[in-house]
Amino acid sequence: MSFLPNSRDASAFIPFGYAIRSVDLEDPYRRQAILTDCTAVTPEFEAKWDAICNADGKLCFKGLDRLAAFAQANALDFHGHTLCWHGAIPTRFRDAEPAQFRLAAASYLSNAVGRYRGTVASWHVVNEPLHLADGRPDGLRRTPYLEAFGANYIDDIFFLAAASDPQAILVINEMGLEYDSPAAEKKRQAMLGLLKGAIGRGAPIDCIGLQSHLVAKDYRAANHDAFANWLGRVGQLGVDVMITELDIDDRGLEMDEEKREGNVAGIYRDYVSLVRENARLRSVTVWGISDDCSWLNQQLGLEPAQPLIRDHQLRLKPAWFELNDLLSFGQGAQVRQASLS
Ligand code: XIL
Repeated sequence: MSFLPNSRDASAFIPFGYAIRSVDLEDPYRRQAILTDCTAVTPEFEAKWDAICNADGKLCFKGLDRLAAFAQANALDFHGHTLCWHGAIPTRFRDAEPAQFRLAAASYLSNAVGRYRGTVASWHVVNEPLHLADGRPDGLRRTPYLEAFGANYIDDIFFLAAASDPQAILVINEMGLEYDSPAAEKKRQAMLGLLKGAIGRGAPIDCIGLQSHLVAKDYRAANHDAFANWLGRVGQLGVDVMITELDIDDRGLEMDEEKREGNVAGIYRDYVSLVRENARLRSVTVWGISDDCSWLNQQLGLEPAQPLIRDHQLRLKPAWFELNDLLSFGQGAQVRQASLS
């Protein structure tokens, strides 16, 4: 059973979930937070190539199997993240000859997608393909994938994924498309060009994933009209939208905790509402269960961030109530659990 809405009905229930790790399942409180809030989950790193590929090059799906089994046993939509990302290439293949790289990347992809066929609701097939600073006219990031598969590598990777699982929703995932800046606008236009070209060649791209790593102190002052208009143009291409890695970096806001949390909560509501009003929004994923596990707090020596909707003790923050009011995810989870009885 999938919660992903098929209708264009804007009032359709929108699945909600967290990025999770196997270790979360060992903690009863974190496990309960997932089952209380979620109708979907995304492996934060255990589906990535470098997490699955052993030092000897063999593929080990133990961690991902555990997360997939948990999702299936609890009727949670399972979003696979991510099949093709320059940030998750195993060490042994980073400097491989293009032909060897292509074989290894294709083998990981087809094994992973084939293994979870019927279990995965969507795959983030290609992640962060654009990097305009690399100077290519098409804006593509210069990666080993581009070198090994050629300028239309995104088409090839999507065709490969579709061949391995014709049912999964296939997503192209990108960062920095949400911002109010000339660089973000150039990136949005490059993404439109990428989508038009790939879809024009028949590539099975169903959705665009907006990573949505927002910065609170910038969001309030920003004008979001260009982003909203761009969402409309994405929809005119027949491409739906997922919010795939939502978090809101609160560093740099006023230090009064109540005001800061209220500010962040308002941005959670405003951003998700803006996307829902301007696109066919298929799912919303917050990038972690609680502030202490946020990837923004992995780098030592930086001021800690409180970017998520549950705090370090899993307590519900104002942002949790705002999102629940918007998406009724608590009720969605009840529907999910009722489906199991
Ligand atoms: C991050 C994870 O959150 C970290 O735990 C991991 O160490 C590195 O990757 N954009 C992405 C995600 O697409 O895969 C990244 O996740 C965060 C940025």
